[in-house]
Amino acid sequence: MDKCKIIAVANQKGGTGKTTTASNLGNAIAREGRRVLLVDFDPQANLSMSFGIENPDELTMSMHQILSLVMEGAELPGSSEYICRGERLDIIPSNRNLSVTEVNLRVEMSSERILSELLEPLRSEYEYIIIDTNPALGLLTINALAACDCVIIPVSPQYWSATGLTDLLQTVFKIKKRINPRIGIEGVLLTMCDERTRLYRKAKELLDGFCAERIRIFNTQIPNTVIAGEANLHSVSIIDFDAKNKAGLAYAAFAREVIDDEGGNGKHATA
Ligand SMILES: Nc1ncnc2c1ncn2[C@@H]1O[C@H](COP(=O)(O)OP(=O)(O)OP(=O)(O)O)[C@@H](O)[C@H]1O
Ligand SMILES: [Mg+2]
Repeated sequence: MDKCKIIAVANQKGGTGKTTTASNLGNAIAREGRRVLLVDFDPQANLSMSFGIENPDELTMSMHQILSLVMEGAELPGSSEYICRGERLDIIPSNRNLSVTEVNLRVEMSSERILSELLEPLRSEYEYIIIDTNPALGLLTINALAACDCVIIPVSPQYWSATGLTDLLQTVFKIKKRINPRIGIEGVLLTMCDERTRLYRKAKELLDGFCAERIRIFNTQIPNTVIAGEANLHSVSIIDFDAKNKAGLAYAAFAREVIDDEGGNGKHATA
């Protein structure tokens, strides 16, 4: 089997729902019987925590260690040494040390491709690899964009920023031109939506205008829910916490949209 799609969940703005989306999309796709690997590529390690890893900083093997081996050109241990296996899906966890990796990347040759070097051989083991990125357009996010087939951009009405989105699209465009020609924008996902508010309606109008014909906005929107915080507190995804919750159901519908797009890499940004 070698039909794996690598998805990066990215938006350099903080708190737009990247980690929540990576976690719940991964869980929802895994519930459809697909083999899914989550990749925590943020030193904040929120995705690792939502997977149930309570103290990521105590891990002896995390993204930092395995990428250090990749950078040294050393032989990698078997994947079971650095992939944590869960009931339905797996994760390569991260912790604060990933910030050290980012510093080390600055002096590395072809530093944008280090994550790709790690993930490419794993394509044969998974149908979906979902990378959660940190809120910045630095070397970590660039590595994630260089390693992926497509990008999902969570946008929250509270943090709508046309300039932010333009910067991200321009970065994707440059990556496409210089490093990773197959990258495409899978789409924009509206998160934390409260359709009754003026803020939501205004942000949606601006987003519709911004995306127009060139970028897909997923039909599914993720509603605002207090359950998101409760799920965090219990170190599980919303879907695992309460699959019948409106946001849990929305993430399941969103996963369907992503799966139905199989074969395509989404529309390409023309920004
Ligand atoms: N649908 C939702 N309804 C209400 N709160 C939500 C929802 N989705 C996420 N949240 C909350 O919003 C906060 C930010 O979400 P999340 O951590 O997923 O964003 P992020 O983009 O990964 O943040 P960062 O940029 O710091 O990595 C969290 O406290 C999360 O619990
Ligand atoms: Mg996050």
